[in-house]
Amino acid sequence: MEPAIPRYAVVTGAAGGIGQAIVREFTQAGYSVIATDIAEQPAGLRCSLYLQVDLARTVSDEAYAQDVFYQIKAHLGPQGLTTLINNAAIQILGSADSLTRDDWHKTLDVNLLAPFLWTQGLLPELERSRGSVVNISSIHARLTKKNFVAYATSKAALSGMTRSMAVDLGPRVRINAIEPAAIATDMLIAGFDDKSMLFRELEACHPLNRIGSTQEVASCALAMVQGMGEFLHGACISLDGGIGVRLFDPI
Ligand SMILES: NC(=O)c1ccc[n+]([C@@H]2O[C@H](COP(=O)([O-])OP(=O)(O)OC[C@H]3O[C@@H](n4cnc5c(N)ncnc54)[C@H](O)[C@@H]3O)[C@@H](O)[C@H]2O)c1
Repeated sequence: MEPAIPRYAVVTGAAGGIGQAIVREFTQAGYSVIATDIAEQPAGLRCSLYLQVDLARTVSDEAYAQDVFYQIKAHLGPQGLTTLINNAAIQILGSADSLTRDDWHKTLDVNLLAPFLWTQGLLPELERSRGSVVNISSIHARLTKKNFVAYATSKAALSGMTRSMAVDLGPRVRINAIEPAAIATDMLIAGFDDKSMLFRELEACHPLNRIGSTQEVASCALAMVQGMGEFLHGACISLDGGIGVRLFDPI
């Protein structure tokens, strides 16, 4: 039997709730995972390489970005990179009255420009393996609420960028996005610690009567890379328990 060709995945925001689930899912599926985050490697998170990297700095400092890409490329085999999962994001909340220039720059650097520049920086490696990119967007790309202007705008732009880059990059590299609604990360659950009624209400808003799990986002990402077929390109898939198709009105 021929030895299996190694497959590599790069995951940003790998120390976060969804990021850790994505690292586990791809590792279990046999990928060598290069996990990156500004935070230290979480205890117990298995991966092939962990790089502590500030995405905002990869936007502002080209030499720093080239060094990060060099470290990633040095770890890859000659077959290149199977997938890049642009998962990291920040959420700076504030109203249209209070958001500052700095809030906007930080949000757009991490949530939008970094996914673009990382895709561009790793393009030859992705192309070599006929690989694909998965951007973790959000339901806020389409539907939002008060005080989410900066975050929602960055996610709307990330979904739009996914579609534009699909036109630009096809047929060399596939690119798709996932738009999750509320996902039960440890942080989200902790926020409802003393508000279990509110958590029940949040669940009940969803036609499926629950919110999503980190595992469901990770499975969707893996399916986009290798399960749904090579015709999936430029898609922004809602992963939202149906909340995005539900009409809320007073009658
Ligand atoms: N949790 C949800 O309900 C939900 C819903 C929809 C979309 N999303 C999206 O899913 C993705 C992951 O979210 P999460 O809930 O796991 O959030 P999280 O905050 O747990 O994880 C985000 C990770 O990104 C990292 N990060 C932030 N700034 C960085 C920087 N400058 N450089 C490098 N790393 C940086 C953080 O350290 C963190 O580990 C995000 O894109 C988020 O917008 C989450």
